[in-house]
Amino acid sequence: MTGTVTSALPTRQLRHDSGVLSAPTAPRVHVPALGDILRLRSNLLNAIQYAASDGSEVSYFNVGSKSMIFINRAAAADVVLSDIHTFGKPDGKNPLRLVLGDGLISNPYHDNWLQRRRALQPMYGRPSLAGMQQKMADVIAEHTRRWEYHDRTDLNVHEDMLAFALDVVSRCMFSRSGDTVSDVITPGTVSFLLGFVERRLRLPLSLPVSVQSRRNRNFTSTMRDLDDLVYRLIKERRGTGEQHDDLLDILLAAKVDDAGNPLTDVEVRDEVLTAFVAAYETTASALTWILYLLACYPDIQQRVRQEIRTPVSPGQKERQGSTFLECVINEGMRLFPPSPTIPRQVKKDALIGSAEAPKGSFVMLNVAAIHRDPIIWERPDEFVPERFMNGIPGRGKYLPFGAGAHMCIGKGFAMMEMGMLLASVVDKFEISLRDSAGPDPRALLTLRPREGFGLTLTRI
Ligand code: HEM
Repeated sequence: MTGTVTSALPTRQLRHDSGVLSAPTAPRVHVPALGDILRLRSNLLNAIQYAASDGSEVSYFNVGSKSMIFINRAAAADVVLSDIHTFGKPDGKNPLRLVLGDGLISNPYHDNWLQRRRALQPMYGRPSLAGMQQKMADVIAEHTRRWEYHDRTDLNVHEDMLAFALDVVSRCMFSRSGDTVSDVITPGTVSFLLGFVERRLRLPLSLPVSVQSRRNRNFTSTMRDLDDLVYRLIKERRGTGEQHDDLLDILLAAKVDDAGNPLTDVEVRDEVLTAFVAAYETTASALTWILYLLACYPDIQQRVRQEIRTPVSPGQKERQGSTFLECVINEGMRLFPPSPTIPRQVKKDALIGSAEAPKGSFVMLNVAAIHRDPIIWERPDEFVPERFMNGIPGRGKYLPFGAGAHMCIGKGFAMMEMGMLLASVVDKFEISLRDSAGPDPRALLTLRPREGFGLTLTRI
């Protein structure tokens, strides 16, 4: 088992021999049979593999009335990501808006999104991240202290990483813990809301939220509690004017226009929930798979341990290039991208190469397939962190955080959080596999193990 990634996605044979976008003669339209539709809807991973299985750069799906275009190759992804006016965020019916409103992720209005993106940029810039470092360190110390209690600790790794990621974003957003925030914003609440959205993405004919089904009532009351909490915290903070050096401070200080107007309470609320949702499952998913990979490859684990225990001289701090730990994180997200697809909607009739993209159709950037394209990556299914030593390939080839104007605004935050947690775990524990079967990946909004799976931490 050791040294083997048991849950790698199956290898695909792609027939192209260059990374350049070539012109498909005629777009091939997949008309999946009923069984396929059910499989596609129950697990996006099936659709991801199905779309890329014949090597097409662009595959079309007609599923019911919906036309969906899968982009399976880097050059075509680059075309889509470089033109946000033609390939924009999905329109106003996007179920994510039920939770996130017009926050950065789900905002369908380009000008309003741009205004907010500019206003929020400082939230995730270097000075702000420096302020978050201590808060992250405190959360890491709390979690690892619990794991250190016994000589050996069994982790239900995905659950543990979800709890960790939620604590980090709560602490960095509100500077608080152990109070009403963690009573209302629990892993269960956030997972329920994301599950609700995912279900509506899979089943577009779901009942409107106003219909009083049990699920809808749960959703409405959960949202009410969440909104009450967030609006109360906003009001308190605006009222006292206290500074906590957290994300909420930065949101409240943000200026959205040249006249220096701040965000309204509703806009702040949208961005608070957006940061929670964006930072929670993605980071937990990345950490889960990276810990799994480190358990599979004890030699790589040992190399990371050596690196983090080697004192860094002042000159080295300024050094360019990646650390080995950063390479491990990048390679982990290549094999198991937390966001395995990135959605777009076509705003005006367009071409991707010579493939037609009619206005209104949905586009799915098939990140998981691109990350294992053998034309880009040598030995694509193997865990080889060294491949990132000389930098990260551009132009649509490596997309864990997306690319272009909508690229993840929290990338620096996430890289810092993951680097700090992994360094602490590898320094304190030996990570080993507990289950003989590897985790079975499942994808909807994020790529995660289907069932919980276990790793053992042995105190060093
Ligand atoms: C490993 C962790 C993370 C991964 C893999 C990830 C991935 C992504 C991806 C792929 C996008 C692009 C979506 C698109 O192009 O439509 C995105 C956007 C975004 N991410 Fe992240 N993310 C991570 C962590 C975070 C964190 C920690 C935050 C905030 C604290 C965050 C906030 C956002 C926001 C606000 C956007 C929307 C940007 C925009 O459209 O302007 N993400 N993320």
